[in-house]
Amino acid sequence: MDRNDELAVLLASRVPIIVVETRDEERLLALLVNLAGGVAAADHRPLFRWTVTDGLQRIDVELAPQLHNAPPDQVLRHIRTVDKPGIYVLLDFHPYLGDPVNIRLLKDAAVGGDDIKRTILLVSHAVTLPDELASLSARFELALPDEAERRALVQGVAQQWSQEHGQRVKADAKALAMLVENLAGLDRASIERLARHAIHCDGAISSSDLPAVMAAKYELLNQDGVLSYEYDLAGFDDIGGLASLKRWIDQRRAVLLQPDSRLDPPKGLLLLGVQGCGKSLAARATAGALSRPLLRLDFGTLYNKYHGETERNLRAALTQAELMSPCVLWIDELEKGLATGDSDSGTSRRVLGTFLTWLAEQSGTVFVVATANDIQALPPELVRKGRFDEIFFVDLPGPAARQSILAIQLRQREIDPAAIDVERLAEVTDGFSGAEIEQGVIAALYAAHARQRDLATGDLLAEYMRTRPLSVVMAEQVGALRAWAEQRCVSAD
Ligand SMILES: Nc1ncnc2c1ncn2[C@@H]1O[C@H](COP(=O)(O)OP(=O)(O)OP(=O)(O)O)[C@@H](O)[C@H]1O
Ligand SMILES: [Mg+2]
Repeated sequence: MDRNDELAVLLASRVPIIVVETRDEERLLALLVNLAGGVAAADHRPLFRWTVTDGLQRIDVELAPQLHNAPPDQVLRHIRTVDKPGIYVLLDFHPYLGDPVNIRLLKDAAVGGDDIKRTILLVSHAVTLPDELASLSARFELALPDEAERRALVQGVAQQWSQEHGQRVKADAKALAMLVENLAGLDRASIERLARHAIHCDGAISSSDLPAVMAAKYELLNQDGVLSYEYDLAGFDDIGGLASLKRWIDQRRAVLLQPDSRLDPPKGLLLLGVQGCGKSLAARATAGALSRPLLRLDFGTLYNKYHGETERNLRAALTQAELMSPCVLWIDELEKGLATGDSDSGTSRRVLGTFLTWLAEQSGTVFVVATANDIQALPPELVRKGRFDEIFFVDLPGPAARQSILAIQLRQREIDPAAIDVERLAEVTDGFSGAEIEQGVIAALYAAHARQRDLATGDLLAEYMRTRPLSVVMAEQVGALRAWAEQRCVSAD
């Protein structure tokens, strides 16, 4: 059943008071006029709109407002005495719900209408109903604009802009479709505001508007803050190595961007691996490669931030991610929350259950990239086949990958890799992670700067000779991780 059909059911039922919290009065009224049906219909009931400024006005057929019914108690007294069926929409009645007389009048109007089909709708941005009325009422939530409505809203904004500026809004069909898709989950006023924003700076709707739209949308939706919006995306060119991971995503990019009913949409990846080898970077690059916003859910924070509310927060975060879809949801430190065997394992099991169910059921518009270091802490059901589309092991980079990581890190600091002997450096950095290679570049730059000369291969060499990489310091753990992964994962490289 469509959410808006629920309103028809409520109106047909005997519930005398319906509370609607919305800022979108116009849309609700339009829906009601629609539902009121043709005036000729057998079960037709007259529909009235009330505001404290205009009083009561019939709106299913257009009649002038009755200003004498403007005072809040007056309109209720009037409704109470009408002995014909009717639907009364009271807009912004909420300030008057504090008055005991009004509460009693509402109750009288609600109860007294037993054999007269009378429904009162209380419509405001927020309504706190007094206890006396709670049992007489039901709440209705207006469905958010669907794709066709969103498109119409964006087109309306574009038309308005054209009229004001005497020229047409430039929009290519693809960018328009993306914008309409990205505005899902918002109410009408927000959709119009964001569309206006996108159009107003340059009179065009283009794909370059989308990041700003998504960031603004995130701000609108982000109420409890367990999810963060990542502005800093990367591209595949920023990653050295990890060729098979890149290929995997490349092959699925088309389906992710344009779902194909013959193919199951990919839902997510799990990246396991050695610290500092580019898991987080790969998550950023996935969003960059798909040109989608990146939302990060930190499982460590999820557990620590609001004690005892982990599951609820997870649900809220997942719902928010769906509203932000299409997007990439990066779950960092997956193992932090899901650790088994601790005193909190009851919660941890439930959270894992919630997450896996959601992952299986979601339609594929949220693409998940989960990352984890500590496989010991991962519950076995998570790494079972079929949970994630693929589990990649991100190992220490091989010689070719080290060369390209070096080149990338140098280029990012505006140093031409051709001036440096990267081949030689790739040899001496055997066992280094990408992060350690990067740290070496940073330290060598400082050393060269202190000597007031350009960076030379020797500076880097000196740094790397001095470093004892994690793979040496923690050889056993890294060895165990690799042995474990060999059985269970696909190599990302
Ligand atoms: N394959 C790589 N290519 C290019 N740069 C890399 C690579 N791996 C790591 N780096 C550099 O090291 C930094 C840290 O890597 P990143 O945070 O992605 O590692 P990680 O696997 O997520 O580590 P951790 O397990 O500690 O979270 C990156 O921001 C990047 O600058
Ligand atoms: Mg990381």
